[in-house]
Amino acid sequence: MPIIYPPINEEITMTHLIDLLPKAELHLHIEGSLEPELMLSLAERNQIKLPWETIEETRDAYQFHNLQSFLDIYYTGASVLCKEEDFADLAYAYLKKADADRVMHAEIFFDPQTHTDRGIPYEVVLDGLQAGFLRGEKEFGISGGYILCFLRHLSAEDAMTTLKHALPRANELLGVGLDSSEVGHPPAKFSDVFAQAHQAGLIPVAHAGEEGPPAYIHQALDLLRAVRIDHGVRCSEEEELVEELRDRQIPLTVCPLSNIKLGVFKSMEGHNLKALLEAGLCITLNSDDPAYFGGYLNSNFRAAHQALGLDDSQLVQLAKNGIRASFAPQARKESLLNQIDALSL
Ligand code: ADE
Ligand code: ZN
Repeated sequence: MPIIYPPINEEITMTHLIDLLPKAELHLHIEGSLEPELMLSLAERNQIKLPWETIEETRDAYQFHNLQSFLDIYYTGASVLCKEEDFADLAYAYLKKADADRVMHAEIFFDPQTHTDRGIPYEVVLDGLQAGFLRGEKEFGISGGYILCFLRHLSAEDAMTTLKHALPRANELLGVGLDSSEVGHPPAKFSDVFAQAHQAGLIPVAHAGEEGPPAYIHQALDLLRAVRIDHGVRCSEEEELVEELRDRQIPLTVCPLSNIKLGVFKSMEGHNLKALLEAGLCITLNSDDPAYFGGYLNSNFRAAHQALGLDDSQLVQLAKNGIRASFAPQARKESLLNQIDALSL
């Protein structure tokens, strides 16, 4: 499919296409967008002692070999978030980065238990995040909202308490999700919580098949009624599951840079996202925890493109999949899809 901008050479052309495409971000942990600069300034503002004192020391600490080694640092970093304005600053800072990458719709995860367990009221977290989003929405025209994630390493009772607390303001949320340490914490553990959330009109999504086995993807679909699977890349270990995901067009929110940093794949060249896309699955690209994994959405597109040789039509397909898989109103989806079509002759 030809593109309107002048093709200077292959690399510049691709960079331009990625930059130009209107995109949706469907898998972004707001706590994972906390850049070292903001982390250190909030630590000072709130008198929180971190194990790191400088930006260099902070970045040097980001040596991960699997999901748990990352989560340990991620939860430490999140401890600087205390007041409403901290959450507002964090959300606004993310939307500013998103705007620079032409993200026009963002469905953002947040982990209330990470904060309520430290004595920060749920209302402080949600009010701050909403204020930051509102500011970004006004300034950049980005649509979207928040998905409340339960921490799966904590108990189902704990998740239920969190849900009960969130229900009076359920109309302010897009849905519920499941994140944190995957192996040993199957989706089945949260069946009752997700059933209650579903009754309250909250759309279910879940992390599954990042480090956990294909069985966890089945559980997320069958027991939690997840309409999107976050990561899901281990599906390719089971042919029938790949067929089900393809036939039902269940979107996978794939996060390439995250998968490399956490050792889900040894190299980007070995990532299965292109094969899954070519097999007809609804693959979307996302940035997961960009402050920790070395890049926001366009960096993920670029890294996947460079390593896997995605062509123009595949880049367009990935961007369109993200918009179609979003929970945006139909008119918003159509408007964004039309904007993509307007880039092409
Ligand atoms: N929380 C933040 N990032 C995560 C990831 N990649 N997997 C599970 N939980 C997370
Ligand atoms: Zn994630």
